[in-house]
Amino acid sequence: MNSSLFIKILRDKKLLLPPLSGYTDYPYRVILARFHPPFIITEMVNARAILQRNPRTMQMLKISEGTQYNGVQLVGSIPEYMGKAARIVQDLGFDYIDINMGCTARKVTCRGEGVSLMKNEQNACEIVSAVTAAVDLPVTCKMRLGATRHSVNVLSLAQKLVDAGAAALTIHGRSGEKKFGAPLDRSIIKTAVEHLSVPIIANGSIYTGKDAEVMIQETGAAAVMPGRGLLGNPWLVPEILNTVLHKKYTAPVLQEKKDVCLDHLRLLLEYYGERRAVLKMRSILPHYFSSCLYLKELKKDVQQVTIVDEIPVLLERIQQTPMGIIYSI
Ligand SMILES: Cc1cc2nc3c(=O)[nH]c(=O)nc-3n(C[C@H](O)[C@H](O)[C@H](O)COP(=O)(O)O)c2cc1C
Repeated sequence: MNSSLFIKILRDKKLLLPPLSGYTDYPYRVILARFHPPFIITEMVNARAILQRNPRTMQMLKISEGTQYNGVQLVGSIPEYMGKAARIVQDLGFDYIDINMGCTARKVTCRGEGVSLMKNEQNACEIVSAVTAAVDLPVTCKMRLGATRHSVNVLSLAQKLVDAGAAALTIHGRSGEKKFGAPLDRSIIKTAVEHLSVPIIANGSIYTGKDAEVMIQETGAAAVMPGRGLLGNPWLVPEILNTVLHKKYTAPVLQEKKDVCLDHLRLLLEYYGERRAVLKMRSILPHYFSSCLYLKELKKDVQQVTIVDEIPVLLERIQQTPMGIIYSI
């Protein structure tokens, strides 16, 4: 797809899904595709590993079918590798490329990747130039306010990234050292919207359609990107799409959540085999039922699961009662 089509759809639908390492894998992307988001993106994928054709990495690049456009997020710090990896993912059929400039995981930052790129503006710009030169796809960057609260440089860096060819920028309204609980700074996102010529996607603490609406109102952002709110909650896609376009949205009933969760399990099983599917489900399942009473006990019990067949039995114990959804202990 070309940049103008990407930007048009982004401005129309106002939603870009996030890369979520360990979660937006192929099985979850298949689930998400059923909810018709305009775009779906992979979890972050290491550029060097793509060049080495690492089998696990190449498995991460399987494209989910659906009506959406598919993006891939690249993580890396060497412009040449990033350009070459971008060319490979373009050939695989991806529709846009995002560059990770926000990840704070030590294994990423110690190599000058992720949020470390915000400390090395020239390197960040060279990466965008190399990637845009290598492909005919829209290239976006996902950043924070700065690597730390003492080095908030998102506004100056953003302009340089646009000059280097970025078609849109996602801004997570926290700096690198801040834990998730820290309040968001929406005012910097608003300033970025006012000063930059490209669409800004606002990210941070969007859990509901209402949160998305408020974020757009307060920042003027072209679109929003949820994060943790999407874990075990693909319904957030229609909730945001409908709310920001002032349409009616109906939340799922418990049985629907159980059905989608079981489908998710089936996809994990097909894709990873039983051992990895069970391990993945241990962290995913509680997210599907995060509003239930006795969630702590549910989390504990799901940790004990060792075979796939135990999961439907556990789901049976989650019930709708007059008090709300309960995990019966
Ligand atoms: C489990 C998890 C995995 C994440 N993986 C990525 C990733 O691969 N690439 C990335 O740029 N951000 C990643 N993020 C950051 C989110 O995309 C998002 O920017 C962040 O969670 C802030 O949004 P939130 O406050 O709504 O959660 C991840 C976050 C979480 C919780």
